[in-house]
Amino acid sequence: MDWGMSNRISRIIKPSSGKSVMLAVDHGYFMGPTHNLEQPRKTIEPLIPYADALMLTRGVLRTSVDPKRDVPIILRVSGGASIVSKTLSNEAITTSVRDAIRLNVSALALSIFVGSEHEHQTLTNLSRLVDEGEDYGIPVLAVTAVGKELEKRDARYLALSCRIAAELGARLVKTYYCEEFSRVVQGCPVPLVVAGGPKLETELDAFQLAYDAIAEGAVGVDMGRNIWQSEHPVAMIQAVREIVHERATVREAKQAYDEYLKTGPKLLAKPTVPAN
Ligand code: R5P
Repeated sequence: MDWGMSNRISRIIKPSSGKSVMLAVDHGYFMGPTHNLEQPRKTIEPLIPYADALMLTRGVLRTSVDPKRDVPIILRVSGGASIVSKTLSNEAITTSVRDAIRLNVSALALSIFVGSEHEHQTLTNLSRLVDEGEDYGIPVLAVTAVGKELEKRDARYLALSCRIAAELGARLVKTYYCEEFSRVVQGCPVPLVVAGGPKLETELDAFQLAYDAIAEGAVGVDMGRNIWQSEHPVAMIQAVREIVHERATVREAKQAYDEYLKTGPKLLAKPTVPAN
């Protein structure tokens, strides 16, 4: 692997643990001002010290993240549909690699919709983006999206999607946790991270999801709503870090979470980048 590509990936997947806690805040690109992400800067700012990377669009990056913050950026470069359109899968590449380079990003992210009416279009989007990304040493993270019309969160479907993404050249793949998740991992020759999905009922449910995903071979999480829709987002991301980087159990993560609530601003986990 070329130096630039390897360097960018190791900014995201921390060499010390081989794992990553990515913070997903790209939801507005099709969901608009989602609950607790109405004012992106307000949501993102306190979480930056604990995120190994931020996944977001160029619009939110330019308006809502201080360029002095040293946090790797995974730039969402696909879009073109919304929650009120007929289908979510009708996506195109929405940002040039040239603009991504201007933004000094560490990776590019794009969704594919295997099994949808736009399967071909989103898969060829991925191939084109990989070609361009490889030219400049920028890894592509393929998101195996499961839209409202694709409620197929089973291992067979996700293994198919993840494998296709890797075959087309994605250096990283993001998918969903499912039963028999290790089958998805085994069939995918590049590192996998899992999304959190819609907010789960309790913190414990989110810790369990992260724990199971890591135990079954994911290199990390790319979590959004289960962190910033939580009542205590900073405690939440710190507890998730404990699971991902420190191999904490669900119980230990909950203890870390409770401890944070008691001790307030005292930091439990080492922040990934110093706060301003
Ligand atoms: C999906 O493609 C979205 O853009 C999010 O990045 C992804 O779903 C992860 O966020 P969450 O953990 O909220 O599902």
